[in-house]
Amino acid sequence: MQAIQLREPGGIDKLDVVELTVPSEPGPGEIKVRLHASSLNFHDYAVVAGMIPTADGRIPMSDGAGVVEAVGEGVSEFAVGDAVVSTFFPDWLEGEARVGDFTTTPGDGIDGYAREQVVAPATSFTHQPKGYRHAEAATLTTAGLTAWRALVVDGGIKAGDTVLVLGTGGVSIFALQFAKMMGARVIATSSSNEKLTRLRELGAEHTINYQETPDWGKAVKALTNGEGVDHVVEVGGPGTLPQSIDAVKIGGHIALIGVLTGREGEIPTAKLMAKQAKLQGLIVGSRRHQIEMIRAIEASNLKPIIDREFALSDIADAFRHQESGKHFGKICLTF
Ligand SMILES: NC(=O)c1ccc[n+]([C@@H]2O[C@H](COP(=O)([O-])OP(=O)(O)OC[C@H]3O[C@@H](n4cnc5c(N)ncnc54)[C@H](OP(=O)(O)O)[C@@H]3O)[C@@H](O)[C@H]2O)c1
Repeated sequence: MQAIQLREPGGIDKLDVVELTVPSEPGPGEIKVRLHASSLNFHDYAVVAGMIPTADGRIPMSDGAGVVEAVGEGVSEFAVGDAVVSTFFPDWLEGEARVGDFTTTPGDGIDGYAREQVVAPATSFTHQPKGYRHAEAATLTTAGLTAWRALVVDGGIKAGDTVLVLGTGGVSIFALQFAKMMGARVIATSSSNEKLTRLRELGAEHTINYQETPDWGKAVKALTNGEGVDHVVEVGGPGTLPQSIDAVKIGGHIALIGVLTGREGEIPTAKLMAKQAKLQGLIVGSRRHQIEMIRAIEASNLKPIIDREFALSDIADAFRHQESGKHFGKICLTF
């Protein structure tokens, strides 16, 4: 089978297309999946670009979608021919968060889904939403579930709430879509006026160019009659968090998700305290969260926004496209 392997210490030009032996038949509790799609996340980019050290020869990509080819003894949840999508934390099935690192995450601590076939525990997958293409399903594992958890699981979003989303990457566009699905209002930012137009077409009530308006936190507050937003989906990190604290309302919720502006920085802690806002770090979610998200997607007919699809062997071009920052929503691999 065709697969992609990363030569350490990493770099987009260190991705090799290789032929590997087809995995053996599934053992008890396992399924064999013929993979057809994956999707790119900033985390995958960080692994591939060498920002996160991994093992030499690692197969990248956290997200995988395909069709069950064989089921092992004792597997009753799946049958041959079922369309399935992978989970980010194969060992976190339900309940409170219990994983604080990426040692079990496909494409980082273990081999990922840039390959045509895999044998894995059945619990590493869930069913895809009905009517989804494989590329669409592959967007759910990381970006979709992170946005879902930020707003629905941890944020407790209600109809009528106001949500701030930052930029137009995979997580933020999903957050916009889930916020609309839940009956909330959305304020969205981007560095591109063209992308702001697309955000409004997707239902954002207000948009702000964060480069033309460096004080966008205050601008968001002004757009909410000085009150601030109920939820911020914070994908920027230290470079954007002070503005997000300006933008959140008293008692609001900031889901701290991303590191787009770096890993450490100064935070106006007194302002956060005075706002009595909840600042919560999170990493993706559990298998149970994914099943609940897929149930909601089926009920609402939500479809992910896919910017471009690349063949598996063109993975380096796909990452260069992500690096350019020109994308809006998700970039996928199909194979
Ligand atoms: N904690 C978790 O579970 C989790 C899960 C998924 C992702 N993440 C993190 O979330 C972040 C986004 O991930 P992603 O996969 O959605 O990335 P992505 O698709 O590559 O998104 C990149 C986009 O982010 C926007 N952006 C960049 N710098 C920005 C800034 N200073 N302010 C506002 N927007 C900015 C840009 O939008 P414009 O072009 O519109 O300006 C850019 O196109 C990453 O840091 C990633 O590691 C965390």
